[in-house]
Amino acid sequence: MAENIHPIFDRLITREEREQRLKQRSKVIWLTGLSGSGKSTIAQRLERFLYSEGYFVQVLDGDNIRMGISNNLGFSVTDREENIRRIAEVAKLYLNSGVITLASFISPTRAIRDLARQVIGPEDFIEIYINAPLEVCEQRDVKGLYAKARKGEIKGFTGIDSPYEAPEMPALEIRTDAMSLEDSTLKIYNYLKTQISL
Ligand code: ADX
Repeated sequence: MAENIHPIFDRLITREEREQRLKQRSKVIWLTGLSGSGKSTIAQRLERFLYSEGYFVQVLDGDNIRMGISNNLGFSVTDREENIRRIAEVAKLYLNSGVITLASFISPTRAIRDLARQVIGPEDFIEIYINAPLEVCEQRDVKGLYAKARKGEIKGFTGIDSPYEAPEMPALEIRTDAMSLEDSTLKIYNYLKTQISL
């Protein structure tokens, strides 16, 4: 029963104390985009870059989360929504630990991303659209999944027979077909710098 649970937040170490200890402001950087758009690659590069600049940072990634806390979920609309809800809750825990979190998930609909934004809190949720045209993602086909989706071996694949809704007002948009990994990383870093510094 929710009413019988008594939070002890007033006795816990606060987020502000943790941020002071880590010498940073925590945020959730939410990368959304098609499969193969470059989300994971950018998240990994950015994580390494921020870490080398002295920040304490953690990637949450579609592929590793789905092996663990979301391993009972598929890719129906309701399962994707539950996947994102769980990830947002985890990201919120990291946020309160003072950690900068890089969340890299297709999160295909505005409703799903709004859910994440609400769970995390709009002031701490930074939406970045990792954009490459479907043709480019399909041509890259790093995991061979687009080919399978085209052959009908995977049903409900994002961009093929399941919708992807581009963000309307992302904090940033990165065109990975037009920009190098290094430039993409720097562009995001330059945007984030003031927001993650104390
Ligand atoms: S989300 O829609 O719930 O946000 P998530 O980012 O966790 O998706 O997982 C996406 C990854 O799952 C893709 O990069 C791809 O490797 C794999 N995948 C398997 N089936 C599908 C599918 N039907 N649609 C999209 N991605 C899929």
